[in-house]
Amino acid sequence: MLRMRAVQVPRPNGPFEIVERDVPEPTPGTVRIKVQACGICHSDSLTKEGLFPGIQYPRIPGHEVIGVVDAVGAGVARWKAGQRVGVGWHGGHCGYCASCARGDFFACQTSTLISGLTFDGGYADYMIAPAEGIAAVPEELSAPEAAPLMCAGITTFNCLRNSGARAGEIVAVHGLGGLGHLGVQYASKMGFRTVGIARGKDKEPLAIKLGAHHYIDSQAQDPAAELLKFGGAKVILATVTNAEAMSAVAGGLGVNGTLMIIGAVPSLQVSPIQLLTYRQSVKGWYSGMAIDSEDTLAFSVLSGVRSMNEVYPLEQVADAYDRMMSGKARFRVVLTMGN
Ligand SMILES: NC(=O)c1ccc[n+]([C@@H]2O[C@H](COP(=O)([O-])OP(=O)(O)OC[C@H]3O[C@@H](n4cnc5c(N)ncnc54)[C@H](OP(=O)(O)O)[C@@H]3O)[C@@H](O)[C@H]2O)c1
Ligand SMILES: [Zn+2]
Repeated sequence: MLRMRAVQVPRPNGPFEIVERDVPEPTPGTVRIKVQACGICHSDSLTKEGLFPGIQYPRIPGHEVIGVVDAVGAGVARWKAGQRVGVGWHGGHCGYCASCARGDFFACQTSTLISGLTFDGGYADYMIAPAEGIAAVPEELSAPEAAPLMCAGITTFNCLRNSGARAGEIVAVHGLGGLGHLGVQYASKMGFRTVGIARGKDKEPLAIKLGAHHYIDSQAQDPAAELLKFGGAKVILATVTNAEAMSAVAGGLGVNGTLMIIGAVPSLQVSPIQLLTYRQSVKGWYSGMAIDSEDTLAFSVLSGVRSMNEVYPLEQVADAYDRMMSGKARFRVVLTMGN
């Protein structure tokens, strides 16, 4: 039996453990992937800290996975050994529940398959993924380049393209972390007048380099008041992890504006009077499916959007995770397996 390295979380709030396990065999409908790179997302804290209901431990985190198909289970027609593939947050769906029958696979209630949460993810040399949750990866992107696009990329890209904003309208991207730095690039490449909002003056040159037309330092200025000086945002893409900070930008929406919530904050304060007076909306957004990942990767190749990464070998997972959680990473942290 072949053996592999894997990083497991033994229990909620437990340390990362680098362990040796048997390389798993693909079951019917699944594919085995030889992992080359896996991004570290802030949402991996759900697994690390036990914040998601029903996680079974030990669990291997990771939902920004890029690798090569290594073996396929029975009944898998689309994937063949040697193909370059990626796995994101949405790991697959059952295909026969009421939601799937309507084509709304992301709302599948019967089998909520989430990589790194409900099944083992990509912090390992190999992983098993449901065939319908896998995306093809274009040759133009290296594995560390493509990995963050499987969650940070798809979430911001898919949210923006479904936000209702039109070319030339004001789109603010709140937060310049793993998600936000990609959000700024996508917003700019999609033709929106893009406003980056982050803490501190030091992020301004990077925001402008990534394509922001304007920058607001939320520590030195009132971000809502500054947005209103531009006429108010059609869309605010809220990627921050802090509830008060997110609440503080909501007042910067324009007439018919939408606050698109991506950051998993525990609560949010928005003025109902403001919402009803200016016909504004608050909406959540949740990554996307394999086809959305393929669209994200294709758009990134087409438009030159790339993740700025700090790359760590798998063995340094604890340092890499702490670096992401510190907020100091510029901007995404990616593990490589040396495969
Ligand atoms: N909806 C989805 O499908 C989805 C997908 C992936 C991730 N997420 C969630 O999106 C969020 C961002 O993930 P990420 O991987 O991009 O995280 P990250 O790289 O750690 O970035 C965190 C961001 O939060 C901001 N922030 C943190 N503390 C703050 C504070 N006290 N005040 C103001 N801003 C603060 C930082 O702002 P500055 O730039 O100003 O430093 C930074 O931009 C997380 O909640 C994650 O769970 C959601
Ligand atoms: Zn994620």
